[in-house]
Amino acid sequence: MAPRTIQPGVFSVGAIDWDRRLFDSLIPLPLGTSYNAYLVQGGSKTALLDTVEPALVKDLLANLDELGVKTIDYIVCHHAEQDHSGSIPAVLARFPGARVVTNQKCMDLLASHLRIGADVCDIVTDGAVLDLGGRSLQFMFAPWVHWPETMFSFLREDKILFTCDFFGSHLATGNLYADDEHHVYLSAKRYYAEIMMPFRAKYAAYLQKIDAMAPELIAPSHGPIYRRPAFILDAYRDWTSDRVKNEALIGYVSMHGSTRRLVERLVDRLVGIGVNVRQFDLATIDIGELAMALVDAATLVLATPTVLAGPHPAAVYAAYLAGAIKPKLRHAAIVGSQAWGGKTVDILKGLLAGLKLELFEPLMSKGLPTAEDLAAVDRLAETIVARHAALA
Ligand code: FEO
Repeated sequence: MAPRTIQPGVFSVGAIDWDRRLFDSLIPLPLGTSYNAYLVQGGSKTALLDTVEPALVKDLLANLDELGVKTIDYIVCHHAEQDHSGSIPAVLARFPGARVVTNQKCMDLLASHLRIGADVCDIVTDGAVLDLGGRSLQFMFAPWVHWPETMFSFLREDKILFTCDFFGSHLATGNLYADDEHHVYLSAKRYYAEIMMPFRAKYAAYLQKIDAMAPELIAPSHGPIYRRPAFILDAYRDWTSDRVKNEALIGYVSMHGSTRRLVERLVDRLVGIGVNVRQFDLATIDIGELAMALVDAATLVLATPTVLAGPHPAAVYAAYLAGAIKPKLRHAAIVGSQAWGGKTVDILKGLLAGLKLELFEPLMSKGLPTAEDLAAVDRLAETIVARHAALA
């Protein structure tokens, strides 16, 4: 993608990864992604804000060539993860006079991950200002977005806030701006769920600081730029709040139909009494869909058969994911079937143990559910409804 002008002297020079379908060998990318880098030219100095995934460094360098860039004075590194920092060595090789501008923690990570030496780095503190001549970047430290070293920078004269991963979306698009807000919303929510949600308690303070800056543009390092910042700021306020929806997520696996019968009964009863239900077949799901749904659901039900004395591996993965990304769930239930016993309930309980939630009485049928099992499912549905009613 050719360089694109945001303002005279401010350009988007990163790369779009249209075809990538997995990030960190972990996160599905149904819509690809981008690695945004920005070039800011002041009257006396030029700064490159972040770089790109090393596999696409040729795109970044071609964009700099196309703009006729002969000198880069500063490479601002907001975050040491390699999709943004990994091409710093290549940029330094092309522009050997450039200084890497970052904070101490980030410099330490650049040293260990990329062998970038302290001799090429200039360390900044929270609130420090980098003068480019008529333009200036002010740094705001933002630890745990989503690593401990992350920082933002604010181009004060143009009121552009560069937030690196914060507010990002894994979305490959030719649109520089997030004007199709519905489309971007879902990608941004998925991104928040997968990357940011474990640290949500930190973010209210960051959102307040950003409000005070009153940026006119928010430029993240993945996905399009927000020229209506309220759109993404309001979305983050909602996602990071303690509010949950009257919604139950049913993540299930069934091998021979017994667990499916329990799930069908539960879904039928919950829908019948006014709970919004989302059902996910864990054996085939894009796990990012479940992560996204976990952003604001009140209840998670994991339903699994017993395999080799424990839960189906797909249920283990879902429980592990929920425990890791720390959604604001209030309640959970474990439902399933077994033939002769096992530790299914204990294993799933252990995986959910780090979440502060009420775990309802587990419900395991022996083979096909009996009438008593189905009556127990009905009672579970009534308990969920009662708890959700109390949320209002
Ligand atoms: Fe987009 Fe944390 O890197």
